Amino acid sequence: MQAKAESYRELREQLAALVAGERDALANTANAAALLYHGLPGLNWAGFYLLRGGELVLGPFQGKVACVRIALEAGVCGTAAARRETVVVADVHAFPGHIACDAASRSEIVVPLVHEDRLFGVLDLDSPLPARFDREDAAGLESIAALLSSASDLRALTG
Ligand code: SME
Repeated sequence: MQAKAESYRELREQLAALVAGERDALANTANAAALLYHGLPGLNWAGFYLLRGGELVLGPFQGKVACVRIALEAGVCGTAAARRETVVVADVHAFPGHIACDAASRSEIVVPLVHEDRLFGVLDLDSPLPARFDREDAAGLESIAALLSSASDLRALTG
């Protein structure tokens, strides 16, 4: 099996090529969701919640339909946003306040989108496998979120 670090390096290169010369945040987040969903094994959802009007609002994603609005500090997404820290949840049933969008989800990782000290939203990945995400996923996805945030005009999508 390909090492995770190598797989994230390749995904980062592919994302860099996709966003090269393009700062439109809607286009770039949409392509990033598709790239991650189809490029990483064992996912049932990959996408974005964007900070709009003081709450997280559903953005571009791949997977089943999802809840539209999440308050800051609610669920895994709101927790990661409020802390501005990646949250890795090995068992969503054991996370107090977890918001179940798809009953098949067993584990989750949420990475905040922060650029120049400003929070723009979160990147959220769900898996039907328990404990699907680890520190290597966190590091890989944080580098992808950083690339996306610096390459896109996220202010146009948030407020
Ligand atoms: N489980 C998330 C809600 C979003 S869905 O997973 C797509 C949460 O607890 O914040």
